[in-house]
Amino acid sequence: MKILGIETSYDPAKSRQVGTAGQVKPRQLILGIETSCDETAAAVVKVGSEIEILSNVVASQIKLHRQYGGVFPELASRTHLENILPTINLALKKARTNFAELEAIAVTVGPGLIGSLLMGVETARTLAYSFKKPLIGINHLEGHLAANFVDKNLKQIEFPIICLIVSGGHTSLVLMRKLGNYKTIGQTRDDAAGEAFDKVAQLLGLEYPGGPAIEVAALKSRKLELKIKLPRPMIDSEDFDFSFSGLKTAVLRLTKELGPKKIQQFRNEIAAEFQQAIVDVLVAKTLKAAQKYQAKTILLSGGVAANSALRKKLEAETLNSKANFLMPPKNLCTDNAAMIAVAAALKINTKSAAQEFNKGWQKISAQSNLELS
Ligand code: KG4
Ligand code: ZN
Repeated sequence: MKILGIETSYDPAKSRQVGTAGQVKPRQLILGIETSCDETAAAVVKVGSEIEILSNVVASQIKLHRQYGGVFPELASRTHLENILPTINLALKKARTNFAELEAIAVTVGPGLIGSLLMGVETARTLAYSFKKPLIGINHLEGHLAANFVDKNLKQIEFPIICLIVSGGHTSLVLMRKLGNYKTIGQTRDDAAGEAFDKVAQLLGLEYPGGPAIEVAALKSRKLELKIKLPRPMIDSEDFDFSFSGLKTAVLRLTKELGPKKIQQFRNEIAAEFQQAIVDVLVAKTLKAAQKYQAKTILLSGGVAANSALRKKLEAETLNSKANFLMPPKNLCTDNAAMIAVAAALKINTKSAAQEFNKGWQKISAQSNLELS
């Protein structure tokens, strides 16, 4: 098991005397658990006037699934089962806390692979029952979005917000008029952006996950060597929907024309043009949505948000816009549990009665097709 631990600086003495903000009690600690796909993750956040990440542990299964070219669901759930308790214990240890000190437990309830989700949900239910803690079920997409609200951002972010969520399973533009209020104004009609990265990487003989592999290949591209132009699907359409399967098919056609030798020769150039096509569409649609809804803030989230070309272009193009652009650090873009704990912190912050989550272990269940609402 490979466990990647990321910690922020933590001073236990200081953390015990945090002041109050709204209904927030001093030193509220929330344990987050995430197992919706192929990362077993646990994290602890501290809620005060800001939300601070105390520990963020990810047991990655990437190497296990690489041999299958994608996530093998059975293997993912079995590996979650092996990793989940050590991962949670490590997250508590790194945050120098224990179950008794927690204010609440939060867990991803969907969307995701049902077998994977069940491992996190059933573990969280058992822990919440055993330690008599409130349990908060979190939508995975709400978690991705919440990754933007860490540290001082919680106080600085202004509404309305347009958030681009780009992951392996989703590509959506979400309008947020206030905390907890989500309206999906556009989404992909076929493949998600991350899915397109993964499939095109396979066509180019690059390893799983395709996003980071394509990003690395694109950086090596010698731009003048192969003059190819791939389509930018739906870039000028009136709505805020996306479509990436045609782009993937265009790469498939190109690779068939080129043959194995030339694919190898021009792999980096194809990767660069494909990445640029995706980035161009995502950025254009996000800016258009921000303009239409007069957004004061533009946010970026999801695994594909770790892509440097996307981050750079969105940052550059929003410089002259009326909206402020923010994005999470790269380690909070790909699946992690800190974002799940942060989403729970926002819910506790906005609900007048956090008691709503008491006996949550009786109420929550895994839902693989859960929508953001
Ligand atoms: O959010 P995430 O970790 O899991 C899901 O909720 O799906 O996103 C995973 C997706 C994968 O498709 C992966 O290829 C893509 O995010 N990804 C990237 C990068 N890092 C991860 N795509 C482009 N560039 C990256 N640097
Ligand atoms: Zn995700």
